[in-house]
Amino acid sequence: MARVVVTGRIPDAGLDMLRKNHDVFAWAEDSPMPREKLLDVVDGATAIVSLLTEKIDEEVLLAAGNQLRIVANVAVGFNNIDVAACAARNIVATNTPGVLTEATADVAMALILMTTRQLGKGERIVRSGEPWQWGMFYLLGTSVQGRQLGIIGLGQIGVALARRAKAFGMTIAYSNRRPVDPTIGAELDATRMDLRTLLASSDVVSLHCPYSPATHHLMSTEQFEAMKPTSYLINTARGPIVDEAALVEALQNDTIAGAGLDVFEREPLVHPGLMRLDSVVLLPHLGSATIETRTAMATLAAANVIAVLNGETPPTPINPVA
Ligand code: GLV
Repeated sequence: MARVVVTGRIPDAGLDMLRKNHDVFAWAEDSPMPREKLLDVVDGATAIVSLLTEKIDEEVLLAAGNQLRIVANVAVGFNNIDVAACAARNIVATNTPGVLTEATADVAMALILMTTRQLGKGERIVRSGEPWQWGMFYLLGTSVQGRQLGIIGLGQIGVALARRAKAFGMTIAYSNRRPVDPTIGAELDATRMDLRTLLASSDVVSLHCPYSPATHHLMSTEQFEAMKPTSYLINTARGPIVDEAALVEALQNDTIAGAGLDVFEREPLVHPGLMRLDSVVLLPHLGSATIETRTAMATLAAANVIAVLNGETPPTPINPVA
């Protein structure tokens, strides 16, 4: 039986699929597996099912050995995997696109509403016991109706967010290397813009691009300065796409109005400057966190492993962005 190592807790539905024909080692704790332990348990593995908290790099591949055939990430983002190192060793790498699209778009839309309507601040006030009173001018936000949502990276999650935002009366702009499929572009009535024009004209900017060296600190001082002082930044993609220190400065200086963040540059650490700002909403990386979605992610990762170990093409191989 092939040894399959699952680096963190995943829903049973995925484990059950793997256990049918394979010898499965699964880390059973909620906290991430210590690196030393990971390097130890992957020895002899034919498949690794990884979570985004584990870095699957050259060292892990070496520790696993030559029989390793697949690294199946239980996430759509795969910046924790050295895909080139896998390819060089003929190890297949897979991710879980599609199944978490709606859940993540829900959180992005929630963050848009929470930031523009000051819902995070309102919740913090009620919970703190601070006195409050309905008032004509109390905690006024801004309406999203008629405002422009600028989406950076109009992939599956970006499209799902655009559909939601349109239902809320927003107009859609996007910045992508390639124009989006014309049918989707027409459905969304979406205008493609270069990044600078998108930043300068959008009321809300939401990040949906993959994280790679090319998108590291894509949003930094220059980009915040290009944005309107009344605009908001939403990040449900990956923390390091944003230069967090520059974001804190932009918020402190009122260069932009606020931010809604589900991901952070040095997760789970959050920049102390963000913690002090009432204009930001901070969530602990919950984009795909529904039981339905996490189950679908686990079973898709298991299906990828089973396919590769059967000598078949996996359902969702990683196609690194060129
Ligand atoms: C979650 O962050 C994912 O990439 O699936």
